Amino acid sequence: MTIKPRETRPLGRTEIRITPIGLGCWQFSNGKGITGKFWDNLDSPTMTDIVETSLVGGVNWFDTAEAYGWGNSEQALSNALLELGAEPGKIKIATKWWPLFRTSGNIPKTIDNRLKFLQGYPIDLYQVHQPYSFSGVSAQMHRMADLVAAGHIRSIGVSNFSARAMEKAAETLASRGLTLASNQVKYSLLDRRIETNGILEMAKSLGTTIIAYSPLAQGVLTGKFHHNPDLIKTRQGPRKFLSAFKKSGLAESGPVVAHLEKLAEKYGVTPGQVALNWVIHFHGETIVAIPGASKPRQAAENAGVMDFTLTREDLDLLNLVSEKYKVH
Ligand SMILES: NC(=O)c1ccc[n+]([C@@H]2O[C@H](COP(=O)([O-])OP(=O)(O)OC[C@H]3O[C@@H](n4cnc5c(N)ncnc54)[C@H](OP(=O)(O)O)[C@@H]3O)[C@@H](O)[C@H]2O)c1
Repeated sequence: MTIKPRETRPLGRTEIRITPIGLGCWQFSNGKGITGKFWDNLDSPTMTDIVETSLVGGVNWFDTAEAYGWGNSEQALSNALLELGAEPGKIKIATKWWPLFRTSGNIPKTIDNRLKFLQGYPIDLYQVHQPYSFSGVSAQMHRMADLVAAGHIRSIGVSNFSARAMEKAAETLASRGLTLASNQVKYSLLDRRIETNGILEMAKSLGTTIIAYSPLAQGVLTGKFHHNPDLIKTRQGPRKFLSAFKKSGLAESGPVVAHLEKLAEKYGVTPGQVALNWVIHFHGETIVAIPGASKPRQAAENAGVMDFTLTREDLDLLNLVSEKYKVH
């Protein structure tokens, strides 16, 4: 397997370096867990192909979570990496603790499971998945810091945290000599709320990386559902019930997709690649993206986003076209 060398960026203020595009592994849940039925089930060879295609395309990190099938996604990922002979430590792994109906005391209790499912691949980034634990932010960060001290994880991040909660997390971590590496949040040309609700500003001031999830708006920004609105009916999960995939939603996002198509033609790429390129470049190095893939060719295309950079003028034009998505 020849891996394409890529430019990397620092993950927050840590020494860990990641490519601007990672692979989101929610799609590897295999129907298990609270959100496992969101995506069609994938068989093992397909998941291994997706991981291989990502690696070959130069992606150096993978985002998974406890909640993605209670270990199914972590295990599918590590199975694929083992099969491909990927050296532990060479590639980076981000996973997440699930905080709902749990206190911070659950963090040290469940870390052995995370490590078990990852089968020897170290946890470079451990994130609190949601801001909904029974315990406060500070207590959670102390337990996460204990895991760093014990050598179980390399860095700490959060997900779906507000600007204020990020600040609190960073304050606690600073008291332990650590930094807040990342906040993983929803961000794309069709959801730009972090630009107006203080999250992006806080990330910049703390030196925290923003990890953009659903950067393709779950496929909408590829334009495929605009061209074939019936396509969504072939997908198993609940996306078909979301307004973004209905006629009215597609009509609303139509102008952004039309502009992506224009730029795609100019650069000789796809509309989805333009959308991802905008996410990883418009705000400099602060934002990285983790598109998910259900097919190897999607993973190849998404890794290919690192082959080109939109000009400042084109980044700014897209900014204008999608301006209204800064508020919802
Ligand atoms: N922290 C959180 O709370 C949170 C929440 C959501 C997601 N995430 C993470 O973020 C990752 C990505 O988010 P996401 O999966 O919600 O949304 P996404 O990456 O915007 O969309 C993924 C879907 O878009 C389609 N797609 C991807 N690449 C494509 C391509 N090149 N051409 C055509 N279609 C393509 C596929 O849909 P089809 O399968 O229909 O082809 C794929 O399943 C997840 O895997 C997960 O790791 C985190």
